[in-house]
Amino acid sequence: MHTRKGVALAITIVVVGIQAGLSEINRASFPKGFVFGTASAAFQYEGAVKEDGRGPTIWDTFSGIIIDGSNADVAVDQYHRYVEDIQLMKDMGMDAYRFSIAWSRIFPYGTGEINQAGVDHYNNLINALLAKGIEPYVTLYHWDLPQALEDKYIGWLDRRIIKDFALYAETCFEKFGDRVKNWIIFNEPHTFTVQGYYSGYEAPGRCSSLLCKVGNSTTEPYIVAHNVLLSYATVADSYRRNYKEKQNGSIGISLDVKWYEPVTNATENIEATQRAQDFQLGWFLDPLIFGDYPSSMRSRVGNRLPTFTESESALLKGSLDFVGINHYTTYYASENATNSIFDLLNDCVSDANAFAIPFQDGKPIGDKKIRYRFRIAGKFYMVIHCTLWHEKCNEIHQGEVWKPFSHYHRKWNG
Ligand SMILES: *[C@@H]1O[C@H](CO)[C@@H](O)[C@H](O)[C@H]1NC(C)=O
Ligand SMILES: *[C@@H]1O[C@H](CO)[C@@H](O)[C@H](O)[C@H]1NC(C)=O
Ligand SMILES: *[C@@H]1O[C@H](CO)[C@@H](O)[C@H](O)[C@H]1NC(C)=O
Ligand SMILES: *[C@@H]1O[C@H](CO)[C@@H](O)[C@H](O)[C@H]1NC(C)=O
Repeated sequence: MHTRKGVALAITIVVVGIQAGLSEINRASFPKGFVFGTASAAFQYEGAVKEDGRGPTIWDTFSGIIIDGSNADVAVDQYHRYVEDIQLMKDMGMDAYRFSIAWSRIFPYGTGEINQAGVDHYNNLINALLAKGIEPYVTLYHWDLPQALEDKYIGWLDRRIIKDFALYAETCFEKFGDRVKNWIIFNEPHTFTVQGYYSGYEAPGRCSSLLCKVGNSTTEPYIVAHNVLLSYATVADSYRRNYKEKQNGSIGISLDVKWYEPVTNATENIEATQRAQDFQLGWFLDPLIFGDYPSSMRSRVGNRLPTFTESESALLKGSLDFVGINHYTTYYASENATNSIFDLLNDCVSDANAFAIPFQDGKPIGDKKIRYRFRIAGKFYMVIHCTLWHEKCNEIHQGEVWKPFSHYHRKWNG
């Protein structure tokens, strides 16, 4: 768990466009309107897991199996100390704070009666931020599913979750949308899909290997991702129809994405690089922009990949006001793959048949000092999120949109 210093350790930068030198970066290096902020997730930060009616989540359950007994019962105690935290953000000169709402504080059992104490807490947090001139950016789902829904119908594996998630999201729009103008509906669905249902390394810890009591790594990640996408589309539609006009906010999603470079220019490796990206970013972004999964997924996953009806496809298409990109690092990709190494690196599902690794011939990718890289062009709106503080984290590289992304880029610019 993070220490109290954690507040300063997670940096989110919302990038609208960049003209920056590489050597000395400061505020003046960024265009007017560039937003600097910090970010957190409810389960990692709040603590107070049994207070004010909060219901248990799949992460409380999952923490129960950590060998050294670590848990998030206190975490950085933000639930009690948010006033102090906000003052720290103010002292650091932050413009924005991105935090997540714990679904089980609003609905302790995932649905049913609203827990007023939970609503009061987030009202207080939002008002305290605004009083200091800090803009709230709110994530609705940062992986902490109410345990009650896991027990009732295995959570994201069941389509019933779409209705329950929509009720939770609409409740948040209703209660907080007069002041919250930036909604990140899901944080990193790729990560919780793969880690929760493919490798089993994270809650709810489902997979086919001996590591997990239950699960099916070949089918469940695709079902989960599908229900997440349909939940997103349902909520986006509801926001646009019922709230956007009077609340004037924007809604989108934050996607985790590594950059992949082909390890050599062999055609097989270039194709593997594209597939690695299709199975990571494309899995979520293609449906939201084009209304369907990438064709490489369709052909390789076959009937394990669920299909969208025409109306679902229409609902998904164009449902983003912005897309957040959480970029951690760059990997080499090649076609040479073995399943055991896949499991070890847990980088992307083996269906992609793309082997990704951060070094080649023992040498790390890129300049050793510059591990966090991204490229930006045109009107791409990027949220760069570095969970591990690194002094080079803010180093910014400009470049062309790399070919595999160019179809999004064209679309994005209309
Ligand atoms: C996973 O599901 C597939 C398709 O239903 C099935 O063929 C396979 O045997 C299942 N694997 C496990 C480990 O249950
Ligand atoms: C809505 O938001 C936009 C951009 O944030 C702003 O320019 C506009 O004035 C707002 N409109 C209303 C009615 O608040
Ligand atoms: C692949 O080709 C590009 C463009 O010609 C070149 O910049 C790059 O260095 C090559 N990569 C490798 C690993 O040879
Ligand atoms: C895959 O690995 C083998 C053995 O290391 C190598 O000979 C081959 O060139 C590699 N293929 C690609 C496409 O990199």
